[in-house]
Amino acid sequence: MMESLMTRWRWAPLALASTLLAAGFKAEEQAKFLAAGEGQMLVAKRCANCHTAGTFTKVRKSEQAWEDVMADMANRGAEIPEDDYDPIVAYLAKNYGPSAKLHVNRAPVEEIGKLLALSKEQAKAVVAYRDANGAFRTFEDFAKVPGLDVSKIEAKRDLLAFTTQ
Ligand code: HEC
Repeated sequence: MMESLMTRWRWAPLALASTLLAAGFKAEEQAKFLAAGEGQMLVAKRCANCHTAGTFTKVRKSEQAWEDVMADMANRGAEIPEDDYDPIVAYLAKNYGPSAKLHVNRAPVEEIGKLLALSKEQAKAVVAYRDANGAFRTFEDFAKVPGLDVSKIEAKRDLLAFTTQ
């Protein structure tokens, strides 16, 4: 009786650690959805673990507003080392600032859905098409996405960036 209790407790920290790991999202995986460039990996590591990258790439904010988000996240338990603070804000303000493009070959479902005002199903169809067929090269490629009403996104043409890096 005593023995089995001790055996169980010995493994408790390990079980807890694996539960926490299971809840987190992998930085390398999430980085693929983030705009390429300096700070990409850092932001994936610090910001795409409690939630996915789509939680914050779907919004466009000024530098000041991103600073407010940082404070908000700190209140929610994000532990951001002092040295990482400025590079993270700089990356977010540059790549997800008020006039930042929508990188259609990287953006996660949430970002595509929100910025193009598509239903979740249509946004998923865009990403599924990309996963199966590779990068979108021109706006016309959207016509090939099954179930997507291209006329709905025509007005957002200038927002789209087709970079593949
Ligand atoms: C300790 C966990 C944690 C970390 C780390 C974290 N967040 Fe969050 N974040 C949350 C929670 C909880 C929410 C609210 C629930 C949700 O939207 O998933 C949230 C929501 C958000 C939202 C949406 C807010 C809204 O009002 O809709 C944004 C934007 C955001 N986070 C950005 C970031 C950025 C940028 C970072 C990195 C600096 C970050 N988060 C790191 C926990 C975290």
